[in-house]
Amino acid sequence: MEKIASGVYRITAGEPEKFTPVKILKPVPSENLDRLPDNPCPFGDGDIKKKCAEGSCTLEIPLGDDEDIYGFGLQLKSFRQSGRKKVIRVNSDPAADLGDSHGPVPFYLSTAGYGVFVDTSRFATFYCGGSKRKGSRQERENYPSVPNEEGHHFEHKAHSGNMFVRIPSAKGADVYVFAGSTMKDALARYNLFSGGGAFPPLWGLGILYRCWWHTDEEHVLSMAKQFRDEKIPCDVLGLEPGWQTNAYSCTFEWDSEKYPDPERMCREAAKSGYKINLWEHCYTHPTSPVFKMLYPLSGDSYVWDGIIPDFTLSEARDVFAGRHDEIVEQGIMGFKLDECDGGDYLCTGNWGFPEFTKFPGGLDGEQMRSELGLLYQKTMLRPFEKRNIRVWGQSRASHALAAPYPYVLYSDLYDHSDFIRGLATSALGGVMWSPEVRQTGSREELIRRLQAVIFSPLAVINAYMIPSPPWKQYDHDRNLAGDFLPDAQELTNMCRSIFELRMSLVPYLYEAFYVYYSQGIPPVRPLIADYADDMNVRDIWDEFMVGDSLLFAPVIWGRGDRRNVYLPEGKWKNFFDGTEYDGGKSYVFSPGLTEILLFARDESLVPFADPVLCSGADTVYDVSLRLYGKHGACRLIVDDGTSLRYRTEKPDVLLIETDGKDVAGFEPNERYRFKDIIAF
Ligand code: GAL
Repeated sequence: MEKIASGVYRITAGEPEKFTPVKILKPVPSENLDRLPDNPCPFGDGDIKKKCAEGSCTLEIPLGDDEDIYGFGLQLKSFRQSGRKKVIRVNSDPAADLGDSHGPVPFYLSTAGYGVFVDTSRFATFYCGGSKRKGSRQERENYPSVPNEEGHHFEHKAHSGNMFVRIPSAKGADVYVFAGSTMKDALARYNLFSGGGAFPPLWGLGILYRCWWHTDEEHVLSMAKQFRDEKIPCDVLGLEPGWQTNAYSCTFEWDSEKYPDPERMCREAAKSGYKINLWEHCYTHPTSPVFKMLYPLSGDSYVWDGIIPDFTLSEARDVFAGRHDEIVEQGIMGFKLDECDGGDYLCTGNWGFPEFTKFPGGLDGEQMRSELGLLYQKTMLRPFEKRNIRVWGQSRASHALAAPYPYVLYSDLYDHSDFIRGLATSALGGVMWSPEVRQTGSREELIRRLQAVIFSPLAVINAYMIPSPPWKQYDHDRNLAGDFLPDAQELTNMCRSIFELRMSLVPYLYEAFYVYYSQGIPPVRPLIADYADDMNVRDIWDEFMVGDSLLFAPVIWGRGDRRNVYLPEGKWKNFFDGTEYDGGKSYVFSPGLTEILLFARDESLVPFADPVLCSGADTVYDVSLRLYGKHGACRLIVDDGTSLRYRTEKPDVLLIETDGKDVAGFEPNERYRFKDIIAF
């Protein structure tokens, strides 16, 4: 066992492979990792048993009786993983709870306060305590695997065995153990080891609206105007496949009939504060100007008639990033990196490249399937880093060590429960997820989905299938759900106020993301992260801590308007009216359609800005301090909000305190103006 940083240990089993997440992505751990207090490794030398031979490697990692297991990155179908079997395979359509997802990660967390990362790009299988083995402690101590009929339920099987990890086609692997004082601390160490969490530009925290596929320059600009005229907050307009001469696969060339002057369009949009983001995938069409150069630098399979660049090769990165550099020069401020996942089941079709694909850099198709998302993300950062610009984009695939990458995952699936579960699981594996909102079957559904997406790392409205915003789609439609029939104007007003809530929280979220960057703690996380010792929260995947002071409980579309909310220890106050609740208890709420279940921790202070339509480098926020209790403190981060300077020069951090009368620490600055105190 080798100690590699404070509380981080590496245990090598057999002969690790040449290509693994650590070796491919070369993470640069945050310097803050070594500032954390040290902790001993929870496993002694020899505790992790290894059976490595030609063809596969199996690890056995101890699992205590009262430990529960979480993690494996984005998991849409389950939350607590104790007793389950999970295959870590990047896939666009997890048809069942098998482990596949857009961003699965070979990393798990235990409620005993440690995390384990198996450094492999293989489709590794994790057996999370459900397999009792001959000769094991569990056999000697007579652990029941299936105590009775009911015992078939996975929870009863959870503690009948250790954790087993089977890695196909590998003769070994490095195992990294993150020893925390708590589960949250172990997660933070994993994120800091990956390089620290991604830090968005201020505009990244606003609303991203993806326009209709068939839009053109004129329509984009008319959309931009419409939002401003109707005072709908929006920072980014996204163009979908139609902007290119060929989209499936991509040419990375503008369709000049629809977009005669992209530079002018970006300039015009920027005048009213918009950034433009472009959809693409990396499969490169034969008519693309970079096809010939990429041909020898790509894998030996096609996807949709496009070649797959091998981003492990610096020449391939140069060519690809070079083409995108020209696009960025035209004024584009971000990309949506689609379809870098692949699909094996029938939900979204069966497509992608086979596992036996060979890439010139040496990876095979299985390894590339795991790494393509992050390699693509990394390549696409170059044009922005070169210009000292911070970006915030979207990607449909991710994997291990993703924390520092400023891309948020999304999906073609749309079940709202799965989408909310994704928000919980992603946070426990260093990936970010947006439960994006598209067209909906009813006005109620639209409202409930919007109320949830504004509490995610990226508030995306993906209207690529419809020409006008989802809140306008009901102008001529019957409301399928029946009763609730606000007219178009009323519905627009309702949506606007949801967006405004997000905009009011931008300063608060910005600070929470700075904590993600510097301390590795994700800004939006399920209760288990903060309250791992509270047995009541172990299965709660639909309540979130947002920053340190807020608790958000979304009303999930399709599960009725009544919902149970468990408030952990302490006192909590309704964010909007201050109604007080004792923690350690559950409550049933029936929130009206415009009501959001948001609670503030007692004795907390939440900076709340007058909503702006978008955030620019010179935006000044007028901040009310919402005080819950007698005394509270919060932090505000003051920096340019757009450049990469925060990496080399620490931003100003204002520590603000108030007792409801006097305010200390709100020093005059160029970003925030003190408005008032609102006490609850
Ligand atoms: C899908 C993607 C959607 C949309 C669509 C356009 O792969 O998930 O959000 O961009 O492509 O073809």
